[in-house]
Amino acid sequence: MADYQGLIEAARRARENAHAPYSNFKVGAALRTRSGRVFGGCNVENASYGLTVCAERVAIFKAISEGEREFDAIAVDTDAGRLTPPCGACRQIIWEMCGNVEVVLANLKGQMEIHRMKDLLPLPFDKSSF
Ligand code: THU
Repeated sequence: MADYQGLIEAARRARENAHAPYSNFKVGAALRTRSGRVFGGCNVENASYGLTVCAERVAIFKAISEGEREFDAIAVDTDAGRLTPPCGACRQIIWEMCGNVEVVLANLKGQMEIHRMKDLLPLPFDKSSF
């Protein structure tokens, strides 16, 4: 399904809820199920910095906790001048829970790129590794 604009808008709305007082870098994500449901997420920082959770993982854990298991795309939206790709930890989680989904990168300037998860995490460690 190629309605990337709706998914980007959902990520943008989720971004408004970001709790990012330490980095001041607000991130929004939106994860779409194969059936068309969309789960938003924002980054949630903590004074103990290492406890911060990225927007992508918040969206994924919300969807998983609601029983969803089949996904086709995840969007990430920031106000950075360059598009923001998922961090390494999120790539591992996206691969595990979502598989080879489309990863839609967007920013407030209107730039947009679409990648495939297998290209963002080559030679993954996963359940086929053992
Ligand atoms: N962050 C995300 O939420 N997702 C990304 O893809 C990159 C990084 C957050 C974590 C932290 O709150 C802030 O951005 C700065 O690293």
